[in-house]
Amino acid sequence: MTQYSFILTEQRGRVGLITLNRPEALNALSDAMGHEILAAAQVYDDDAGIGAIVITGSSRAFAAGADIKEMAHMSSVEMYQANWFSVWDELARVRTPIVAAVAGHALGGGCELAMIADFIIAADNAKFGQPEIKLGVIPGMGGTQRLTRAVGKAKAMEMMLTGRVMGAVEAEQSGLVARVVPLDSLLEDAMATADAIASMSKTVAMIAKEAVNAAFETTLAEGVRHERRGIYSCFATEDQKEGMAAFMEKRAANFKHR
Ligand code: CAA
Repeated sequence: MTQYSFILTEQRGRVGLITLNRPEALNALSDAMGHEILAAAQVYDDDAGIGAIVITGSSRAFAAGADIKEMAHMSSVEMYQANWFSVWDELARVRTPIVAAVAGHALGGGCELAMIADFIIAADNAKFGQPEIKLGVIPGMGGTQRLTRAVGKAKAMEMMLTGRVMGAVEAEQSGLVARVVPLDSLLEDAMATADAIASMSKTVAMIAKEAVNAAFETTLAEGVRHERRGIYSCFATEDQKEGMAAFMEKRAANFKHR
C-alpha cells in the first residue's frame, strides 16, 4: 500500500476517500501534495471495486490554495519547464466520479480543486474564492474557466478581479455547489452520496460523466451526438440488461459494474 505524506486514503465499501492532510498550512496544495492526490485518485480509478471518489479536507479548510511559499520565488521559466499545475489536468482526466466535500476555506487552488471534482457538496461554513489577484497572479488550476462556466461571467469576473469570497449559500444559489449541508454531517452526506453513485454501473457512470463534461467543451449538436453514442454504448453493457430487467421485475438492480 502506498504511503502518502500529505493525504490520507481510506476505502469504505465501493467509495475511495482522499482526505487532504496538511493542517499546518490549511491544506495548501504543494506540488508534492498534488502528485499524491493524483496518484491516489488514479489508484482508485483503476480499481473495479471503487465506484466513486470523495475528496475532502478539514472542517477549517478544504484547501487554502496552491502553496504560496513554494511558488513565491519561482521564475516563469522554472514554471514553464516544470509544466507547473499540469498535474491537475491529469486529475480532471480521472474517469471515476469524484465528489468534493468542502468545509471552510476553498480558496485559489482549493476552489479550483473542488471544481475539478464532478460536483461539490458544501458545509454551511464553506467559503469559495479566487483571491490570486491579491498576490499579483491569476488562477492557474483552471479557475478562470471552470468558475466562469459554473457561476457565469458577472460573478466570476467580480470574484477574480476583487478577490471577493463567496459563502456556501451564495455558492449554492449561483450553481457552484450541488448542495449545502450542516458541517457536522458533511462527510457522512458526501460518503452516502458517493455510495449511491458507486452502487450504479461504474461503466455507465463514467459514460454519463464524459457526456456531461462534453457540454463544456463542444457545441450543442456535437454534444448531443456524443450523448447519443453514449446511450447506444450503454446497451452493450450487462448492466443495462440488468437495470431494465430489474425495473420490469420490480426489484432492485444488482449491477455487475462492467
Ligand atoms: N500557501 C501556503 N501557506 C498557506 C496558504 C497557502 N495558500 N494558506 C495558508 N497558509 C499557511 C499560513 O501561512 C499559515 O502558516 P504559518 O502559521 O506558518 O504562517 C497557516 O497556513 C495558517 O494560515 P493563517 O494563519 O493565515 O490562517 P488564518 O485563519 O488567519 O487565515 C486564510 C486563513 C484567510 C485562508 C489565509 O491563510 C489566506 O489568505 N491564505 C491564502 C489564500 C490564497 O491567497 N490562496 C490562493 C493561493 S495562489 C493559488 O492558489 C494559485 C492557483 O490558482 C493555482
